[in-house]
Amino acid sequence: MNKYVIGIDVGTTSVKGILVDKNGEIIYSSTSPVTLLTPKPGWAEEDPLEWWEATKNVLKDINLKNPVKIEAISISGQMHSMVSLDNNYNILRNAILWCDQRTGTECEKLTEFYGTEKEVIKIFGNPFLTGFTAPKIQWLKTNENDNFKKLHKILLPKDFIAFKMTGDFAIEQSDASGTSLYKVKEGVYDKKLLEKLSITEEQLPEIIPSGGLIGRVDCEELPFLKGVSVVSGGADNAAAAFGCGIEKPGDAMVSLGTSGTVVAVTESPDEDISGKIHLFAHVKENTFYHMAVILSATNSLNWFLKNFLNDSPLDKINELVEKSRPGSNGLIFLPYLNGERTPHKNPNARGVFFGMSSFHNKSDMLRSIYEGVVYALREGGECIKELGNNFESIKVVGGGSRSDVWCQMIADNFKLTVNRLKVDEGAAYGSARLAGNYVNFNTDEWIEITDTFNPTESNFNKYDSLFVEYKNLYNSLKNDFDVISKYQRS
Ligand code: XUL
Repeated sequence: MNKYVIGIDVGTTSVKGILVDKNGEIIYSSTSPVTLLTPKPGWAEEDPLEWWEATKNVLKDINLKNPVKIEAISISGQMHSMVSLDNNYNILRNAILWCDQRTGTECEKLTEFYGTEKEVIKIFGNPFLTGFTAPKIQWLKTNENDNFKKLHKILLPKDFIAFKMTGDFAIEQSDASGTSLYKVKEGVYDKKLLEKLSITEEQLPEIIPSGGLIGRVDCEELPFLKGVSVVSGGADNAAAAFGCGIEKPGDAMVSLGTSGTVVAVTESPDEDISGKIHLFAHVKENTFYHMAVILSATNSLNWFLKNFLNDSPLDKINELVEKSRPGSNGLIFLPYLNGERTPHKNPNARGVFFGMSSFHNKSDMLRSIYEGVVYALREGGECIKELGNNFESIKVVGGGSRSDVWCQMIADNFKLTVNRLKVDEGAAYGSARLAGNYVNFNTDEWIEITDTFNPTESNFNKYDSLFVEYKNLYNSLKNDFDVISKYQRS
């Protein structure tokens, strides 16, 4: 007899739920949109009750179309975003999101409190970054003290949804890692910081292992799920990696989504003292991952398609890309359309086509966009390798991974085998795997490789030389980016 679990991901644009059977087949997928609010430039907020409505929509839809018994549910979600509840467990204000930039001053002040950024990284595994949770608490304390005084619980998005379902509060190691309240290597909250922020450990959810039981569904809005086990999920990046079997040292994932990431698993939680690379706990116990984040991966391509190529379909674009040659006939694209996180940590960086000549055509331009994104990921991958994390193979996921030519470029630049998987459902599939493990499904068998791209040695020299040039360009243009970005703000 078949058995089923549900994986949910509380994303920034929508909540997604998938019904998965014990063999890892996706039986049904449902999404419900959520509204991103930008009340001021640089601010990003969402209403947690809208996530809850969206989650209920998705679960009701799954149940309506597939009225089967559910063995367990697990939830992943956007990292870092802060939900604040009062002592009646009502929402105090909209959630402040991972991509919100309001806390620059708070980050500086908290860093000063610890002395230097290096000290902060040694304690927390990462610097205080504007998107992270701790600076948001400090912001609330300074700017909305009435709300701060009423603050009874601080939760992350997926943990809020689990609370609405079960009435229980819990967080797990992978999401705790992105709060900056938690010492990634030691697995505990930092008491000194809680004191500085004037909060207590009781205001934070208890840390339980990812994959452990939070509680059982006990809410009147979801009677058809009553009593179903809700299993602790993971931060979206960790869950997405787990969903494609990235779980032991040597494993790495490259994702070609709107933004792009390189996630590489390690058992040695060595932090990057320069603050370029994130160190977070994975959903597997005693396992960590290093992560490089680039801000415009498929976003670079989509920007170009939308503005200059009437949104042509991906297979047409790939044909055009293949008409050019490795190295795009000497055209280089820097994909910094929205600034860059790894390695530059520079919001003022901007996109560049370098080396344009009258013989270049749209094939070269498109290919240079693909290559520029791969160089950016390669640079992130090199930073990870500098930490001694020598990942050995890559699984590629995200919308861009449907392009064979893009996957081949990753193989040729990283000089590693790149595998593509049968299922590419992101974090929701990782959550479903965690739920599946809890009810003893054999989820190792869920991971099925469908395509393999081996590195082509004859392309190494060209890519290696152009990659050096790509890196030089940022350094040459760094100051000019600061100048030009001033004109773009005014
Ligand atoms: C990770 C990060 C984003 C969010 C998106 O540090 O900020 O990937 O997790 O949901």
